[in-house]
Amino acid sequence: MVQLHEMILRDAHQSMLATRMRTEDMLPIADKIDAVGFFSLEVWGGATFDVSIRYLNQDPWERIRQLKKAMPNTPMQMLERAMNTVAYWNFPDDVVKKFIYLAKKNGVDYFRIFDALNDLRNMKIPMKAVKENGGHVQACLSYTISPVHTVDYFVDKFKELGKIGADSLCIKDMAGMISPQRVYDIVKGIKDAGIKLPIDLHSHCTSGMTGMAYQRAAEAGIDVLDTAMSPISGGTAAPATESVVAAFKGTKWDTGYDLELLIEIRKYFLKVWDKYRHLHRFNALKVDPSVTLHQVPGGMLSNLIFQLEEQGAHDKYRDILDETARVREELGYPPLVTPTSQVVGVQAVMNVLHGRYKVVTKETKDYCRGMYGKPPAPIKPEIMKKVLGPKWKDEVIYCRPSDLLKPMWEKRKSELKEHDVKMTEENIMIYTLFPQVGLKFLKGQAKPEFTSDRLPLPIDHEFTRGMVKQSFPEIKQIWLETVPPEQRSGPAQIPTEFEVEVDGEPFEVKVNPTGGFLVAGAAVSQEKPKDVEGGVKSSMQGTILSIKVKKGDKIKEGDVIATIEAMKMEQEIKSDASGEVKDVFVAEGDSVASGDLIIQVL
Ligand code: CO
Repeated sequence: MVQLHEMILRDAHQSMLATRMRTEDMLPIADKIDAVGFFSLEVWGGATFDVSIRYLNQDPWERIRQLKKAMPNTPMQMLERAMNTVAYWNFPDDVVKKFIYLAKKNGVDYFRIFDALNDLRNMKIPMKAVKENGGHVQACLSYTISPVHTVDYFVDKFKELGKIGADSLCIKDMAGMISPQRVYDIVKGIKDAGIKLPIDLHSHCTSGMTGMAYQRAAEAGIDVLDTAMSPISGGTAAPATESVVAAFKGTKWDTGYDLELLIEIRKYFLKVWDKYRHLHRFNALKVDPSVTLHQVPGGMLSNLIFQLEEQGAHDKYRDILDETARVREELGYPPLVTPTSQVVGVQAVMNVLHGRYKVVTKETKDYCRGMYGKPPAPIKPEIMKKVLGPKWKDEVIYCRPSDLLKPMWEKRKSELKEHDVKMTEENIMIYTLFPQVGLKFLKGQAKPEFTSDRLPLPIDHEFTRGMVKQSFPEIKQIWLETVPPEQRSGPAQIPTEFEVEVDGEPFEVKVNPTGGFLVAGAAVSQEKPKDVEGGVKSSMQGTILSIKVKKGDKIKEGDVIATIEAMKMEQEIKSDASGEVKDVFVAEGDSVASGDLIIQVL
């Protein structure tokens, strides 16, 4: 028998609906889902915590409490990013332990724990905390393809995870690129090594091979497969639950689940899928086999294309792909998953645009220092020198990254006391993990985003298109764009402010016509200073984070004059001239394009 881990309430809508499914979309069908008998149900963690407070004005703790109550018979599972918990950076041990304690207390039973680099040192603290609180640890390894990621690599690491206290194991193929033979070899390898723990395979349909991989995984003795109910399956999401149940019916892998019950659940989720139709992306539903060739995951690929377009260099696409593979090799073959996909991708873009390692991002430096954990393979000294300079050896840390962090919980708690907020441990955690967005939410200032049914204008209206693009910058190509321009409705001139009603509560939507997404001719170009003698220019497009010099300062060539956030990362802008700063043309928070003047030095 094979069991299924159902993901429609977490990974599926994170993959296809920008994580926007709400608690009220889940509860009406909960009793039916609970009756299926799934191995576990993924309902929490990943991006759901952040998105709930940032975009939905929903309390993530309330969600898990309600779901647990509505589904008492199915283990509730969450995805936990080791020392990052549900955020995107490392936290000290006290915060991670407290987070696990609170998650268990509020209703999480199974904790799926992973680290982007498979650095087991990062996984120990959360794993032990889960055990101490009586939870089930599902220890994950991020799957990738490289000369170091052999079958033995996975088997040995899984063995160690068993020793640390894992209750089950998971191969996390987040990019959806595992091949049938590969998964067979790894699962067989684990079983042959005498590891008795249940093994789960997590994958996505991106490559088109995943259905075959699931079959081969079953043949090798896999215990659990990750699937999602059909309305949010396939493409960048997981294989469909009903299809896998039907495929195994009458075989020795029969799940025993009631297919008719599943079809009833399917009918319900078709309505939920429709409720978020403004988020449907044509490309997310298609197979993208190019991942089998260059191993760059689909999500990262579209991100790279977007970043190249932003930097005005979309003609360099092939070069970037090759460079991404090269940078990944040089950085010791990290699996390409958040945050390492961003480190590798942006450095590759920098290398192609400015010369190899001429501009090195802060994140690449941190990565090479060991601040994310130990790279899977050692980085060659010549690369370390290029990234960190001749004294690179002094910069590297050899300890677990979180060992460098001071306890944070008490500090955050006393900070929050300054505000008029209910002081529960759950609220303190929201603030600790997301200080700005969390505080806004706790103060009741967050507003729920619109859904398709609440759009002020028809879904194919130019304004709707603009509003969706504005609200979901991560969505590069939206379904609506498949409507040919001549069939689109909407006048040439459109308003830029709207009041939208959500559950009787009005909220304002403003569209600033600077992004160029409005109807042709409506985009407004910002006025920038002209070229001047001794002008130092930005070599990239982004937002100025800080300015390090002022008028009258004497600076030397190579001095850092400003920092800029470009491609979601912090970078330094250095002066290419020496002299006195005669003028500063930008302020903190300004958006600049590649070639815009930053300062004048004479
Ligand atoms: Co996934």
